[in-house]
Amino acid sequence: VRREMSSLPRVYVTRQIPPEGLKTLRESGQVQCQLWDSDDVPVPRQELLQRVKGVDALLCVLTEKIDAELLDAAGPNLKVLSTMSVGFDHLSLEELKKRGIRVGYTPDVLTDSVAELTVALLLTTSRRLVEATHEAKTGGWGTWRTLWLCGYELANSTVGIFGLGRIGVAIAERLAPFKVKKFIYTDVAPRPELASLINAEYVSFDEMAKRSDFLAVCCALTPETKEICNKDLFSKMKNTSIFINTSRGGVVNQDDLYEALSTGQIAGAGLDVTVPEPLPTNHPLFTLKNCVILPHIASASFTTRNAMSVLAANNLLLGLRGEPMIKELKL
Ligand code: DGY
Repeated sequence: VRREMSSLPRVYVTRQIPPEGLKTLRESGQVQCQLWDSDDVPVPRQELLQRVKGVDALLCVLTEKIDAELLDAAGPNLKVLSTMSVGFDHLSLEELKKRGIRVGYTPDVLTDSVAELTVALLLTTSRRLVEATHEAKTGGWGTWRTLWLCGYELANSTVGIFGLGRIGVAIAERLAPFKVKKFIYTDVAPRPELASLINAEYVSFDEMAKRSDFLAVCCALTPETKEICNKDLFSKMKNTSIFINTSRGGVVNQDDLYEALSTGQIAGAGLDVTVPEPLPTNHPLFTLKNCVILPHIASASFTTRNAMSVLAANNLLLGLRGEPMIKELKL
């Protein structure tokens, strides 16, 4: 039996999320939804602060900063926050916990898409594909040359994974058939169960830096990992090594990365994430041939983005019913 619309819990959705997620919310008959009806511009902060007043639940994406100011603006009705992302560095977990607000997020459903894109970015960077297509169409393609556009191959290489979770494992599983010789990883503590899936050896941060031919960053952005990829790391890496980041831009010190790339301290970098996003087109990193920059698209497949929206919607509905969410963050 449907309750009168006006007595249903109020939900604010901060973005025009993919259709399946919106359908899940709308057809539940459980909530009344208000939506920032655009996918092209994020809801302006002032508008968001107004819109959240008195809502019971909020569905957001990673462009919204969920902090004390926003939670105060929402007020005591707010019981559930559901983010359509696996990352949660845009959320003040402490503030959410203090207010007893339950938090849903979207791990797992994006693992395949992110791992696939990470491999694509790694190969694009190591085999210099962007430079190569540019040369081919702008007249740089002369005779076949013996060392022209040479890069680095995965066969016989050592691949380092910084932050071994679901995504790191999925990346390694996809790279293994390229005849990688050895996987190594570092994390706050060894993760033997995950590591055994890909036969990876636990090493120190320094050892990972020194031994990796390819280094893939797959950790969460936390106060501990903020700018942990800095000159200290790059100076220990081989000058033939490739650095790949599909986690969060904040784990990298971009000035140090620029320095490492422009002086040949490392061979190349592939980034799907930067600070800020979008990265201004006049940013020095864009001037480097050995830096490939993508606009945060690792989870951008139709299947995955729809699955993320449905999971975020279901987390929210379950949370409002007081039931366990499918994917809930422990606060
Ligand atoms: C996430 O989910 O955190 C990604 O960055 C976007 O899919």
